[in-house]
Amino acid sequence: MYSQIAGTGSYLPEKILTNQDLEGLMDTSDAWIRERTGIVQRHVAAETQGTVDLAEPAARAAIAAAGLAPTDIDLIVFATSTPDYVFPNCGVLLQQRLACPGGAAFSIEAACSGFVYALSVADKFIKAGEARHALVVGAERMSRITDWTDRGTAVLFADGAGAVVLKADPQAGILSTHLHADGSYKELLYCHSGSAIRMAGSEVFKIAVVNLSKAVEEALAANGLDHTAVDWLVPHQANVRIIQAAARRLDLPMSRVIVTVQDHGNTSAASIPLALDVGVRDGRIKRGELLLLEAFGGGFTWGSALIRY
Ligand code: ACO
Repeated sequence: MYSQIAGTGSYLPEKILTNQDLEGLMDTSDAWIRERTGIVQRHVAAETQGTVDLAEPAARAAIAAAGLAPTDIDLIVFATSTPDYVFPNCGVLLQQRLACPGGAAFSIEAACSGFVYALSVADKFIKAGEARHALVVGAERMSRITDWTDRGTAVLFADGAGAVVLKADPQAGILSTHLHADGSYKELLYCHSGSAIRMAGSEVFKIAVVNLSKAVEEALAANGLDHTAVDWLVPHQANVRIIQAAARRLDLPMSRVIVTVQDHGNTSAASIPLALDVGVRDGRIKRGELLLLEAFGGGFTWGSALIRY
């Protein structure tokens, strides 16, 4: 058995913060943010909205797109670095909202690589025959751990949620996943519990570009494919310059890359499933096409997934 993506969904909170709004809050400018990051606006959760509140509509949309009911879900893997509770974990909280008790439900914390980690774990459950319909979620309320006095991070991060449903299938959808981590870089990007994000931006930038290039090459080599086989790059949305560097490495025109960072900012573990859902719902990503997902985040953690959609 293999995993196939049966449906995707996403949710963004209503409130939008533009770069101009941020100009009023800190010493920054729309021009600086656009030029250095590509970000134009981002969504921010309401005071009353928690991470699971963002995840629930995304999950329901993915389940509906898969033509399933919540009770069909027998595994929830929930990627987040901004959980609502220490426990129960966000997977369990979401399971309760969806009223589908019984299967395993847990969260994975791997910063911006969380969704690729979660997808890889769910894929292995399905391949092992331990789940048939897995809900894989990336949801973040990054505004909860943002230091609004630190212009080096506050302009980057944002809130949102994305989800996919994986179903067991004799035909391979997820062709491979590759996960990596190197804790020796922990001081470059971290968030102590109860505190806010701290990041050495330009150092992170350089290492992200190098490691993402290697991740992309590793994914293609493991499948005996070259870059011309890739139909869509669906990258983590941290910075448009990092995304452009990865596309150049693949010799892929930007018209074959799903870019949402201008509208969503960096939603950490939510960014890839959000971008995937945008590409699927606007008709760019079609069944049978080859998708390359890649992510890099705090830890450092990084990884890729190669998927026949
Ligand atoms: N507005 C205006 N000026 C700013 C701002 C701002 N918001 N932020 C920083 N600056 C200034 C700096 O103070 C610095 O000024 P100085 O030269 O007088 O000291 C100057 O701009 C340049 O700063 P750099 O940090 O060198 O700028 P850089 O081009 O590297 O861009 C950025 C910064 C956007 C953070 C970039 O480094 C980046 O995207 N890094 C990677 C982020 C990432 O991928 N993170 C991983 C995922 S996140 C996760 O896992 C949670």
